[in-house]
Amino acid sequence: MQYYEVKQADDPNNKTELEKKHIPVIQAPDKVKKDEYFDITIKMGEIDHPVEPGHFIQYVDLYANYYHLGRANFTPEMKPEVTFKVKLKESCTIRGYELCNLHGQWQGNKEITVE
Ligand SMILES: [Fe+2]
Repeated sequence: MQYYEVKQADDPNNKTELEKKHIPVIQAPDKVKKDEYFDITIKMGEIDHPVEPGHFIQYVDLYANYYHLGRANFTPEMKPEVTFKVKLKESCTIRGYELCNLHGQWQGNKEITVE
């Protein structure tokens, strides 16, 4: 592992517990209509990440490919889960990047087709 790294699952079919707690889970339709709003919900993570003053998710950033769509900030009083209302013009990879104050940056992806 390199120092400046955004972490993903080493083996997506066999995630470690650390990976399951941190990799953003992106819930959204596989296909959407151009310029119509839909929901993208992001959870951290596949199993609940701890939420306590010394260990919590600080934020999650949402991207369409490499275009920044938005950010949700969290405090130790908040469940690290958020729903964004989004409209897209073309098919893209939705990327979520989250920061855990102890375990660094993690990335989750989902492909969305725009019809
Ligand atoms: Fe963590």
